[in-house]
Formats: sequence, C-alpha cells, structure tokens
Amino acid sequence: MSEEKVVIFDTTLRDGEQSPGASLSITEKLEIAQQLAVLGVDIIEAGFPVSSPAQFEATKIVAEQVSGPTIAGLARASEGDIEAASKAVAPAKKKRIHTFIATSPVHMEYKLKKSSDEVLKMAVQAVKCAKNFVDDVEFSPEDACRSEMSFLIEILAAVIEAGATTLNIPDTVGYVLPYEYGRIIAQLKSDVPGIDKCIISTHCHNDLGMAVANSLTGVRNGARQIECTVNGLGERAGNAALEEIVMGIHTRPDFFASQSTGGLSTNIKTTEIHRTSQLVSRLTGFVIQPNKAIVGANAFAHEAGVHVDGILKERTTYEIMKPETIGLGGSRMVLGRHTGRHGFVDRCKQLGFKLTEEEIEHAYQRFSEIADKKKEVFDEDVMAIINDEVRVVVEQVYELQYLHVACGTGTLPTASVKMCAKDEVKIAAACGDGPVDAAYEAIRQATGQSPKLENYSIKAVTSGKEALGEATVRITEDGRSYIGRGISTDIIEASAKAYVDAINRMVSAKGKGDQPEVKVEL
Ligand code: KIV
Ligand code: ZN
Repeated sequence: MSEEKVVIFDTTLRDGEQSPGASLSITEKLEIAQQLAVLGVDIIEAGFPVSSPAQFEATKIVAEQVSGPTIAGLARASEGDIEAASKAVAPAKKKRIHTFIATSPVHMEYKLKKSSDEVLKMAVQAVKCAKNFVDDVEFSPEDACRSEMSFLIEILAAVIEAGATTLNIPDTVGYVLPYEYGRIIAQLKSDVPGIDKCIISTHCHNDLGMAVANSLTGVRNGARQIECTVNGLGERAGNAALEEIVMGIHTRPDFFASQSTGGLSTNIKTTEIHRTSQLVSRLTGFVIQPNKAIVGANAFAHEAGVHVDGILKERTTYEIMKPETIGLGGSRMVLGRHTGRHGFVDRCKQLGFKLTEEEIEHAYQRFSEIADKKKEVFDEDVMAIINDEVRVVVEQVYELQYLHVACGTGTLPTASVKMCAKDEVKIAAACGDGPVDAAYEAIRQATGQSPKLENYSIKAVTSGKEALGEATVRITEDGRSYIGRGISTDIIEASAKAYVDAINRMVSAKGKGDQPEVKVEL
C-alpha cells in the first residue's frame, strides 16, 4: 500500500495574524510567506482581502511574488468578499478562494440572524460565485463542531454539488475533544454524498489545548488537509501548531499506517522548522515559551543528571526526535574575539544568510563589539545580530546615542538619554518605577512620542552569565501596533533599543500614511 500525502495549509498570515497583538506589515508578511514556501507548505492563506486595504495588498503581493504553494484568500459568503479575494489571489500561479459561513444554531441565530435555509442558500451561491474565478474552492461551515450533524451533512452535500473541492471542518471555538472530532470527521466521510471527490480538512482552535490532538485525530479518521499556524498563533488560545502537526506525522508513521493506507507524509522540509518558527516569533513579537513542543528553547535540552547520562549512553533513551531534523545544529560552533572576518562570514553563510558587503561590514563590527564583551558567541547570537540589527529596514528617525541609568535598593530609578533626530540632538532625564520605566520615560520626553506600551519581554539569546539579552516591545497608537527589538549584553540598553526601534517603526509607518487596520468580525 502506498503512502498518502497530508496537505499542509498554513494560515499564519490570516488566522495567526488575528492573534490579539500580532500585526504584521506587508513586507513582514511577504518575508514570512517566502519562508513558508521554503518550508514546503502546500497552501498559504495570505489574508482576508476584503477586511482592509492592507490585507488586500498583502495577499496580492504574496500572490505576485511567492511561487510554489497555492495562495488562498479568505472570503465570507458574499459576492463582495469573493470578488476582493479573487482579485487579490489572481496573480498567483495556483490560487484558491476559501469561503465560509457559520452553521451552528448559536451563530446563525445571534450573529447572522438567518435561518438554516438562508445559510444553505448563501453557502451554495458563494461557492458558485467563487467557481467563476477559480477552480480550487474551499468551503468552511464555521463553528462546525457545534452544528447539527444533519445540517452539516446537508450543507456540505450542497456545496459539493456547487463545486467545492475542499471541505474544511472548523472547531472554531476549540470546544471538542479528540475522540469527538474524530467521530465527526468519520461520520462526514461516510455520510456526505459526493465527499469522496473532495479533500476533508481540519481547522482546530486550541481553547482546551486540544488543537493538535484534534487535527491528528481528524487525519486518522480520513481528513487529508490540516490548517495550522507556525508556533500555534491564532485567535484566542491559537490554532494547531504546524511544527507539532508535522513532527507528529513524521515521528509516528506507525500510528498513521492503517488498513487503508501505507502511512502518511507531508511535503514539509522539516529542517526549515526552527528557522521558520524563529522568524515568525521575531516578526510578530510573540516570544516562544521555553517548554513549547518542538521549537521551545528547552525542547531538546537535558539537564537532569540521569537524563544526560542516559542520552550519552543511547540518545533514544530520552530523545524521540533528533534536533537536526528540525534544523538545529547538532554540534554548536562557537565564535569568539579571535574569529576573523573570513571565519565570521563563513559561519553566516552556513547559517543561511546571504549578506551584502555593507551588511557584512555592519554585522562584523557588531560581532566584534559583542565578542569583546562575551567570551563565546553562539549561532543564536549571530542570528540575533543579523536579524535584529543588520537586516533592520526601518528608517532610523531617532537614534539612541547615550543612556545612563541609576538604580538600586532605596534609590529612585533615574535615567538620562541623548537622542539624535536628523541633525537635532535631544537630551532628557526622568525617573520611573524601575530602570526600564525611567529609560522609557526619558525616551518619550526626548522624542516627543508617547505611544502606549502594550507588551514588554526580555529573554537571553543563549545561556550563561554573559548571554546577549533580547528585548521585544509592542507599542500602540491610533489603533495600530508596532513591534520593536533590541539586543545587547546589557539588558537595560537592549530594552531602550527595542523601545526606540518600535518608535522608529511607528514614525516611519505614519510618514508613509499607513491606515489603521479595520478588523472585520468573522
Ligand atoms: O476558526 C474558524 O472557524 C475560521 C474560519 C474562517 C475557517 O478561522
Ligand atoms: Zn480559525
């Protein structure tokens, strides 16, 4: 019996971007989409084009510039939405329209204020309308898992007749448990007329922490597409994490082989998982919890003596996957103050960076400064230098030239800063609840900008007392959020740099006349 493929439908840029606080610029979305193509996802849901001009533009640019995967655009079951989605995905070689309407009693009565007959008619019209633009049409009965089974069967049979090629079964509110989700998929597979011509898809939210388990149980019961997001981003508690889904299928072929199939596989290049996860975390500002499965910093770390002893005797005693499979370097290369330019450039190449001469110059200079303070510079440090400092495309409207902070037990934390804005130099001093708060107040005074600080986090890029600190902040103003990052061996300096970076992004975006995002209720 031959192996069957499970289609990986990535919705990081659509459902993932609906995570509260995750907002990506068009350039950032394009960068993620390009990496998703390298990762080997089959479909990228690039956005919800009708919801705002920025969503439309982002979907269109991804459709124009990213080759390999099918590009999908989301649309409610209405002509306007479907036309917008069709225009946005038009430039793609392979394109899909994904249309949806809610089918659960609670959504139909309170949200849509429509009868089931009306909903069924709208679904059929939507699929027929989408068929005028593309062959590949996906239909989702939103909140399927709280819908009446008889109505689900009826509406799915009707949209198949209308031309739908993929039927997605969302657990929109993350309500069901794996056994129940498996039974829903199995029943639909056996009872919906014509369903054997279509691909059944899973789309599971994580409110009860079941998203990955539900998706894999769906696959065990006949689904052959999984909708998921990198790092499990998504509405509320998120969506099924792509990396967990893929590694589940990869690591347990025995579980998925059955009487009807010789096993399952995906087209994902697993060695790109770690890099993709880091990129999404960096651009969304969502820090990955250390104990996150597959991509957390501790996912392949062993500390307890008995575990380390076991691993050294036989790796499989405590490791079910090899770190190399997800793209982590097996052995760590360490650079230091004696590493020359040539060695540094070589390492950058091995890490997959293609740098211009100017970028190499900047990166090597920063590397040398850091290597002077830190004895050992690890791959993660080099990646942080390049990603957070060298590849920053935002205009440096404000530059932090000087920062002095005084704090301690029984003293009032104070900070003074010198900032450069074009040719003007601004100096300010302030006190605060702590050293970071004082520095941020001084920066606000010096720049005259006072966005709301929504989120602040700091983490060590590598372990050890001389580790680089990487600060991430999210600020908001006029309904838009901006992420800033900064690195330094000094965590107060890293924090100040992150804040200035976010302010620079905000000021540049305003200069370009970016409009606030209008979120359309699903
Ligand atoms: O969770 C959900 O139901 C969705 C649909 C739009 C597929 O995201
Ligand atoms: Zn969703």
